Amino acid sequence: MFHLIESQQFSREILFKLFERADELRGSGSDCLRGKVMASLFYEPSTRTRLSFESAMLRLGGDVIGTENAREFSSVVKGESLEDSVRVIDDYCDCIVIRHNEEGAARKASEVSKVPVINAGDGKGQHPTQALLDVYTIYREFGNLDGLKIAMVGDLANGRTVRSLCYLLGKFEGIEIVFVSPLNLKMKDDIKKYLIEKNVKFREENDLNNILGEVNVIYMTRIQKERMSIEDYEGAKGRFVINQSNFELINERIRILHPLPHVEEIDLPMSVEEDDKRVAYFRQAENGLFIRMALLDFILNGKTG
Ligand code: CP
Repeated sequence: MFHLIESQQFSREILFKLFERADELRGSGSDCLRGKVMASLFYEPSTRTRLSFESAMLRLGGDVIGTENAREFSSVVKGESLEDSVRVIDDYCDCIVIRHNEEGAARKASEVSKVPVINAGDGKGQHPTQALLDVYTIYREFGNLDGLKIAMVGDLANGRTVRSLCYLLGKFEGIEIVFVSPLNLKMKDDIKKYLIEKNVKFREENDLNNILGEVNVIYMTRIQKERMSIEDYEGAKGRFVINQSNFELINERIRILHPLPHVEEIDLPMSVEEDDKRVAYFRQAENGLFIRMALLDFILNGKTG
């Protein structure tokens, strides 16, 4: 792997090696990226992805350059194309982590870059490192991925995290997926076609409470106001919510994941979010740091352990 653009690029073997390396790096420090520079180029807002990538690089002895708001603070303001920006930035660094509002932007960057490009989210396209940390989290919570039943809930039409996660789950055996979404935000056909090709069972539901007791993982997502009309948003928001009353239907072995940020689709008291093992999304965000450390080591040093 030189560039990381889509989650289909990971093989099952590489995934397990990255999990192992992430566990190792969690327990012990390393300066395996000393002398390397990562450019973080974010054209869309981010808290977790940008800061965990930057922290991962710094914790491994590397350095970081970049801009948290490239649409405002880079020469894009003066009309520079993405390709020209990348052609220049690749001389200043050893890899580029890019988030962009346009689907396909990371691939476009990779086509002109001399250094590895990592897709940190491209519009409604993919978010492969989020999917990587999602499967790593499921693996850590359950010790396994094969044979699990996973509900994906919310804005499945615009969600790049659920798209990338479906591609990764297709690498495992006996996976079942239940898609729960408003009618206008259903999972797209290209993903369904991929799941059929990979023999992954899936079905669609529109009552969240019906499936809370039957799955292992409830993967909640935010209704992405910024990617739809106000009418669509008003029709969809608040339809699928985990709150104190339906939380009771979720047994102790089930885990709730969310790529975050969450808004009204999770309505639990802070004490439950902090103390209840079923709430896994803050552990998930923390796992993002260690798996991104492993990924940077793999991409920049060719090492998984
Ligand atoms: N999950 C995720 O991509 O979060 P950020 O938008 O904060 O990076």
